[in-house]
Amino acid sequence: MKILLIHGPNLNMLGRREPEIYGHTTLAQIDDAARERAASAGATLLAFQSNHEGALIDFIQAEGWDADGIIINPGAYTHYSLALRDALATLHAPIVEVHLSNVYKREPFRHTSLIAPIATGQIAGLGWQGYLLALEWLLSGVKS
Ligand code: DQA
Repeated sequence: MKILLIHGPNLNMLGRREPEIYGHTTLAQIDDAARERAASAGATLLAFQSNHEGALIDFIQAEGWDADGIIINPGAYTHYSLALRDALATLHAPIVEVHLSNVYKREPFRHTSLIAPIATGQIAGLGWQGYLLALEWLLSGVKS
């Protein structure tokens, strides 16, 4: 089983970036925990972060076609990247959109997700644990 964990712009700054909103856990800690959990279930997890829309799309095109599950926090691209949405829409694997913060409790521009309509499900507001919950769901083999 191959799972992709994809992080959009500014998420490389986790731990230092507005910790009162995004917490103190770093991206490396999240990736390590997810990789370890996936390995314990016999799955391979590839983690990727970029601040560039095209680099995220290149990664999705290169690795997404044979993936069995995708976990993605698109960061601010959530709210306006049609190109990222189109790239994800070509995949057959279930997609879980994750947000550290509860975007629906924040500014109105964060209430719209272009990704949600093509995602299988969404987790928002549960901090770094949201990624591991998404992973548990994918590892359980549940498909919509
Ligand atoms: C975020 C929410 C987005 O609105 C924001 O642009 C981010 C992080 C979250 O994880 O809560 O970069 O996706």
